[in-house]
Amino acid sequence: MDDLIAELAGVLGEANVFVTPEDQAPFLTDWLGKYHGAARAVIRPGSTAEVAAAMRICARHAAPVVPQGGNTSMSGGATPDETGKAVVLSLARLNSIRDIDAVGNTITVDAGVILAKVQQAADAAGRFFPLSLGAEGSCTIGGNLAANAGGVAVLRYGTMRELTLGLEVVLADGRVWDGLTALRKDNTGYALRDLFIGSEGTLGVITGAVLKLFAQPHARASAFVAVAGAAAALSLLGAVRDRCGDRLTAFEFMTGDCLSLILRHIGDARLPLAAMPQAAVLIELSDQDDEAGLRERLEAALADGIEAGLVLDAAIAQDGAQARAFWRIREGVSEALVREGKAAKHDVSMPVSAMADFVAAADAAVHAVAPGISPIVFGHLGDGNLHYNLLPAEGQDPAAFAALAPELTRVVHDEIGRRRGSISAEHGIGQLRVSEMPRRKAPLELELMHQLKHLLDPAGLLNPGKLLPPSTKN
Ligand code: FAD
Ligand code: MLT
Ligand code: ZN
Repeated sequence: MDDLIAELAGVLGEANVFVTPEDQAPFLTDWLGKYHGAARAVIRPGSTAEVAAAMRICARHAAPVVPQGGNTSMSGGATPDETGKAVVLSLARLNSIRDIDAVGNTITVDAGVILAKVQQAADAAGRFFPLSLGAEGSCTIGGNLAANAGGVAVLRYGTMRELTLGLEVVLADGRVWDGLTALRKDNTGYALRDLFIGSEGTLGVITGAVLKLFAQPHARASAFVAVAGAAAALSLLGAVRDRCGDRLTAFEFMTGDCLSLILRHIGDARLPLAAMPQAAVLIELSDQDDEAGLRERLEAALADGIEAGLVLDAAIAQDGAQARAFWRIREGVSEALVREGKAAKHDVSMPVSAMADFVAAADAAVHAVAPGISPIVFGHLGDGNLHYNLLPAEGQDPAAFAALAPELTRVVHDEIGRRRGSISAEHGIGQLRVSEMPRRKAPLELELMHQLKHLLDPAGLLNPGKLLPPSTKN
């Protein structure tokens, strides 16, 4: 047993230091099955103090550390490289709800707590934690923070950064920053909290957080609506907002091709419309009470849409089961894409008003590169965030498609660049998009990020190869 492993086992217990391929396997491949890494060890500390001790040991041995939560990253962020030098640090055993303050509307949790558990704990306390995404049954709060996750309720409640008040972080040298405050106002210097959120495990290991809670919405109204395309969906978004204001909680867009793919691969998904539309949106309103009133408001908004020629067909959920069936379609898309084969995935954002134009321009650009290619487009339209996925043309050789992927990504990201958009709206750069960073981020931005990285992790041990491309300065 090498010294590093022996020291880690001495602090964490041998049962929490995995060195065999069998034990390590679940931690070494990403959810998409795109990245397969190797590790010197996979460790599972059980407390912040154990994380700190492990970080000190790894620093002494100059061993790189890859923090891992639920391993649901869509950008290969939590998968080690193939060198076998890294230690994967799993936060899975830091899984306690530390405190719920129903008066202050906050919840304090360990970073390894699964998102769905936080939602349930808030619910049990008569409160609501709004972050919601397809992976909520396995992703963790630490991963949500490190990736600044978005999901389907950003429209109303914001991203993970906006839902967070305090953080506890272990630095690369093992020092612990205790920023676990429940303050909604605190003007005492640089917002270190916001620096760690979205840092993808490259600046520190998040071990705890204080999150905002909200009043529980007791009323929901959902509709599945056929539209002609992204432009009509955008106009409908405006009309629904005019009628429903902040009650609008979700506005999820899917093209017809995306719907066909879902129905092809997700057995229990059923189209709630008479015919396959060009495109569809899933609309959800929520409020404290008065479900009937909320549904009337939704019906009125859809009537406006029909009158304006935007709504071509619509189904309004009559009960919770129907609403869940609508969401089953939407949340089935990631799985359907994986079953269909290797997609070129893009997670982009832009000003909301530029989205229809973007879809048209990107479609034209990718067809110029690969005639017959199949864009699968869906996403959080109200946030300006689309998942622009590409599948090979009918009968196209997967290897030939894979060879085209870098050029396809370049033309998609060029269209984003023209609209001053982002090449990662919510999934993170990880290792999937790191090679694009020099082309998409201004040199000054990269220089400042490298200087911050060097300040907090001078040896470059935290999640190497992720987020930041190699520095051109040193
Ligand atoms: P991991 O995958 O384990 O890690 C993600 C990144 O965070 C890695 O860089 C890792 O090193 C780092 N990290 C993890 N834990 C810590 C920690 N405690 N401290 C420091 N760094 C850490 N994302 C969205 O934003 N919106 C969606 O709608 C959405 N839908 C999804 C649907 C499906 C089916 C799947 C599989 C994924 C989806 N995702 C979505 C992506 C993913 O779930 C999120 O990025 C999630 O936040 C990752 O959490 P995790 O615990 O699985 O993190
Ligand atoms: C989603 O919105 O479903 C996700 O972000 C996942 C994906 O892009 O596949
Ligand atoms: Zn998404």
